[in-house]
Amino acid sequence: MAEAIFRFPQGFLWGTATAAHQVEGQNKNNNWVAWENEPGRIHQGQKAGLACDWWNGRWKEDLANAAQSGQNAHRFSIEWSRIQPDVNTWDDNAIQKYRTMIIGMREMGLEPMLTLHHFTDPLWIYEKGGWENKETIEYFSAYVEFAVRALKDIVNFWVTINEPAVYTVGGYLGGGFPPGKNDLSIAYTVLSNLVKGHAAAYHTIHKMQPDAQVGIAKQYRAMAPSRAWFPPDRWITRFSSTSFNDAFMGPIEDGLFRFSFKKEFIPDAIGTQDFIGVNYYSQDQVRFNPFAFKDVFQARHFLPDAQLSETGFIASVPAGMQAALKWAHQFNLPIYITENGVEDAQDRLRPAYLLEHLRKIWNAANSNWQVKGYFHWSQVDNFEWERGWSQRFGLWEIDPQTQKRQRRPSADLYAAICKENGISSDAVRKHAPGMMKKLFPG
Ligand code: GAL
Repeated sequence: MAEAIFRFPQGFLWGTATAAHQVEGQNKNNNWVAWENEPGRIHQGQKAGLACDWWNGRWKEDLANAAQSGQNAHRFSIEWSRIQPDVNTWDDNAIQKYRTMIIGMREMGLEPMLTLHHFTDPLWIYEKGGWENKETIEYFSAYVEFAVRALKDIVNFWVTINEPAVYTVGGYLGGGFPPGKNDLSIAYTVLSNLVKGHAAAYHTIHKMQPDAQVGIAKQYRAMAPSRAWFPPDRWITRFSSTSFNDAFMGPIEDGLFRFSFKKEFIPDAIGTQDFIGVNYYSQDQVRFNPFAFKDVFQARHFLPDAQLSETGFIASVPAGMQAALKWAHQFNLPIYITENGVEDAQDRLRPAYLLEHLRKIWNAANSNWQVKGYFHWSQVDNFEWERGWSQRFGLWEIDPQTQKRQRRPSADLYAAICKENGISSDAVRKHAPGMMKKLFPG
């Protein structure tokens, strides 16, 4: 018998998250494949390649491991370029393959949460200017209609677009994603079109499936002024946080889209979310820098005493999760943590990172905030975009060459949490003894 437990509400969803391009392998027809083929774009010229071989059916093995570890849900995405390889071609085999996978998930006891757009665009969309082109809104909506018609009897949770602000910063403000542009005015157009694409998708889904739960997965980047006593630092922090965290949500609240120094009214977007999906990884300290013209007058760094992930990409700041939850709580909708995790091949930081972030979520859930689920990024190591295979976020390790899987110790810790629907002192003593004092001081 555990002597103490941080228990989560009944019916809490416990899962992991993945994305099509990062796990499927053999994608041939999207903008990321094109990007990977350009020299200098991806860490050491690496490619997604076979990824985790899910397209050949290896999802069965990875998701069986997830289900056996007590998970009861899985967040994943479907690949637009497979389903609609060309403007006039719809691939029934591809959608049938996704149907088989989703039915398989259900049979394992995993509630599917399906993302319709997770960073990749079909090549034919990319060649027409991607989300810079307002026709993409209609194309996206047609693809969504096709997918929903085929899958609505087996999917309740839909995420329209993953991390629209990351997509925009990555591709249009110098962040290392395709098409590699750096132009604030184009970024405005792209983000505005993504809002409209989301709104169109929301209405399309609800027309066909009135009871569907539809949301977005919004990355919340916690930000704090580097020098809290210095007004310019406070101002630039507010400016950055509003642009990155709030711009996409504004029109969903009241129709008003504001980004950079422009704004417009998008009435179709009002009320277009049934839940709020939060991806949270880390917090930045932001400082005003009058010379950083290209970086919109700011410099960012991590807290000097923060624990950093292996490649220094993430600082473990659980207080940022608390800020993310507080931000999400304002929308007065069910909240799902749709991504959270850390790159850590050696699994040194992950147990503490997982426990401390979950404790913040427990706190919110037990303050009667509507926190309904948690999806850890990720079940298995996978292709991390412009960072290639250099970052390992998996509860399970994968060697992409041999496709051999191996459980990391954190997989057992997470399994104990999922099975008990809580963090027990027994589980922590067994799987992360170094955290006992912090979580259960006695
Ligand atoms: C998120 C993204 C995921 C994954 C994760 C870890 O921004 O949605 O696809 O790559 O970061 O890097």
